[in-house]
Amino acid sequence: MSKQPELKHAAVKILKAELPWSLLAVAWLPEGEALAAREALRALMPQFSFASCVPFSSPAPVDAPPDATRTGLLFRAAADYAPDPALLSRIERWLGLAGDEALQYADPKKGQRRTMKLVRTGSEARLDGFLLAGDTSAEAWIKTLLQDSLPAQSYGRLLLVPGSKAPVEVADAAKQRGRQVCTCFNVTDIAISGCLADCRGSDDSRLAALQASLKCGTNCGSCIPELKRLVRATAATAAAA
Ligand code: FES
Repeated sequence: MSKQPELKHAAVKILKAELPWSLLAVAWLPEGEALAAREALRALMPQFSFASCVPFSSPAPVDAPPDATRTGLLFRAAADYAPDPALLSRIERWLGLAGDEALQYADPKKGQRRTMKLVRTGSEARLDGFLLAGDTSAEAWIKTLLQDSLPAQSYGRLLLVPGSKAPVEVADAAKQRGRQVCTCFNVTDIAISGCLADCRGSDDSRLAALQASLKCGTNCGSCIPELKRLVRATAATAAAA
């Protein structure tokens, strides 16, 4: 059961490496809109050489109310050439990125486009959604800014700057947070190690306890091989201690 997602993951990497133009669009969506947006975005997938659309959610503390978990969508695509800008506008609309409040940079001739939507509450601002097209190397830090709901009021138009080099504060936050293992539920290796430290029993029962506690590995399943590796690694560490 765990082998299929591994094969799918490998195929995605091969295809993406061959396609020079790429797109990443990620957004939190209001309750009740995620399903319709997902269906609409899936209908657009055939217009790209490669595309995927997966939901993800924020990790909620164990004692948080049921509605504390937020849902988002992550749309990824790649192609030989940049598509018609109208197609990118449709993706933005479904992800709530259209409108005057969104910051945008666009250079259609070079196939570049970056759109950022900040939501302000008093003096604070959080990134609610973004689209990177052409150069998606800023994914490493911009996705963290969104998924961890980090304060973003000090970035402003810096969010539109291309490149993988993160502003210092995002890099520090990402380091403290750890490496993301489960994309669907935004669960990091640090959170997993902390949870496994309290789990006892066989590898299978520790994996089940981990999934019950953090939800990781309970949606698309593509992170399960890495979860199993971490379960085995922490068991070996405990035995050696
Ligand atoms: S990445 Fe989908 S369940 Fe973990």
